[in-house]
Amino acid sequence: MQCRNLYSPVILGTARLGCMSAHAARLVASELSKRPEIDTDLIDIAKLPLPTNDAGEAIKQAEFSALMDRADALVVVSPEYNHGYPGLLKHVLDSCLKEYIHKAVGIVGVSAGPFGGTRVIQNLLPVMRELGLVSIFWDVNFSSVQKAFDQQGRLSDESYIRRIDKFLQELIWMARTLRHGREQVPLN
Ligand SMILES: Cc1cc2nc3c(=O)[nH]c(=O)nc-3n(C[C@H](O)[C@H](O)[C@H](O)COP(=O)(O)O)c2cc1C
Repeated sequence: MQCRNLYSPVILGTARLGCMSAHAARLVASELSKRPEIDTDLIDIAKLPLPTNDAGEAIKQAEFSALMDRADALVVVSPEYNHGYPGLLKHVLDSCLKEYIHKAVGIVGVSAGPFGGTRVIQNLLPVMRELGLVSIFWDVNFSSVQKAFDQQGRLSDESYIRRIDKFLQELIWMARTLRHGREQVPLN
């Protein structure tokens, strides 16, 4: 039985001004924070002071690294840009490595089009694997995101709450299981 709260920050994966993904990220963080066994934060990658004249662990930023180190699970909220992920999201994720290993990750795809970011999710999966993260088999897909939220960022389609709940349930199970493994199961 694990008593210590799980820590699962939500990463908003774009720096685009006025991005709709921010509404999705806030909603998921708010649903996570309703669970007493979870601590969370919303990490806005636009606010991370990472240089762009180098890459990888060479530009590791102490605060982001510490959050990733503390994390048991990550939620990555990513818009679909030309069927891929925002370059800045990859730049930020690449700045850490050992911090992610054997931790759970769930992906929330956001798109203006009808496919709910399925293509960006598929493109992120091999990246997550290479980072040592363990992907869950549930996603959340915000399709036609401009209809899912109103101008003030309030959810217009309540069915997302049920989908987010299932996604978080799976993420938490995986986070618990992997924490047990990291702490109790020797690697060799
Ligand atoms: C550079 C760029 C490329 C985009 N490419 C796609 C795309 O491939 N498929 C899609 O459904 N929407 C695409 N969109 C629209 C986004 O899905 C839309 O802006 C949505 O609101 C999510 O992105 P946001 O969080 O930046 O608002 C693109 C938007 C930008 C800025």
